[in-house]
Amino acid sequence: MSAHPEAGPSAPGRWDQRYREGGDGWELGQPAPPLAAFLRHDPRAPEPGGPVLVPGCGRGHEAALLAELGFSVLGLDFSGEALREARRLHGPDRPGLRWLQADLFDRAALEAAGLGPGSLAGVLEHTCFCAIDPPLRSAYRATVVHLLRPGGWLLGLFWCHGRASGPPWGSDPRELAQLWRQAGLEEELWEPARGSIAGRGDEWLGLWRQPAC
Ligand SMILES: C[S@@+](CC[C@H](N)C(=O)[O-])C[C@H]1O[C@@H](n2cnc3c(N)ncnc32)[C@H](O)[C@@H]1O
Repeated sequence: MSAHPEAGPSAPGRWDQRYREGGDGWELGQPAPPLAAFLRHDPRAPEPGGPVLVPGCGRGHEAALLAELGFSVLGLDFSGEALREARRLHGPDRPGLRWLQADLFDRAALEAAGLGPGSLAGVLEHTCFCAIDPPLRSAYRATVVHLLRPGGWLLGLFWCHGRASGPPWGSDPRELAQLWRQAGLEEELWEPARGSIAGRGDEWLGLWRQPAC
């Protein structure tokens, strides 16, 4: 079941509308530079091996980067318009890169797509967390923890702006660290991001792991 009302700023139809009307001010036209630099050059970056999910993948730039680096990637979004764009830019499903239209909070849809408990080696987060309604953050956390296998990783670039309204909803770095700690994930990295684009100087980069049993 979807956790979203059919109206409101976070409803799937509103996201479709934003893509159709070009009201997508978050679009970078490339993978977020701090994530790309980390994945390409940092020795702490996760290695390919096992399926990786990019929730709220939008036009799919991070999913395509991961596929280029040898990861087996599923880009998920509940907006059909977003995935139409992702396929146009990065190609249809192929080995190593697939697209799935589903609500991240719809466990039945995830299961039907092979996303069962412990099915993922990794999750890459970029501007999905700030797009969902803040009351759904604990559900986001539960979904990530449910899907990650032991030793699985969460790599995320989080928008820690302090504005009261959204989307994009801001985060407090201390609260985010606590959110993942409470979920039992082990923090490997949590620091202000380097190389963010102008206007996103308040991003934080984090890497957490599900304990390896
Ligand atoms: C701000 S956009 C970011 C897109 C992409 N990550 C990027 O950085 O360009 C947020 C995306 O999350 C998707 N989204 C929001 N809530 C979702 C949910 N519950 N399940 C799946 N996708 C969701 C929206 O459709 C939208 O494409």
